[in-house]
Amino acid sequence: MRKNYNDPNLTEETINLEMARQSLIEEFQAINWYQERIEYTKDEDLKKILSHNRDEEKEHAAMLMEYIRKHDAVQNDTFLHHD
Ligand SMILES: [Fe+2]
Repeated sequence: MRKNYNDPNLTEETINLEMARQSLIEEFQAINWYQERIEYTKDEDLKKILSHNRDEEKEHAAMLMEYIRKHDAVQNDTFLHHD
């Protein structure tokens, strides 16, 4: 999704967090798409490549989550305390 991040009403921190959250959504979508393709294909070579790529997307998601936790104190707290 392409978005205009030049809204003068938003702080730089808000825009950065929004970009990180949107990127996280896209990483999770990619993980789901790779997983489906892994299960569809009968080609073992392709399955291996797609599995590797899926796991890289998981690493990307973790990196983004780490960024969000660092910049959003409430979100970070939910990892420590939740129902
Ligand atoms: Fe990625």
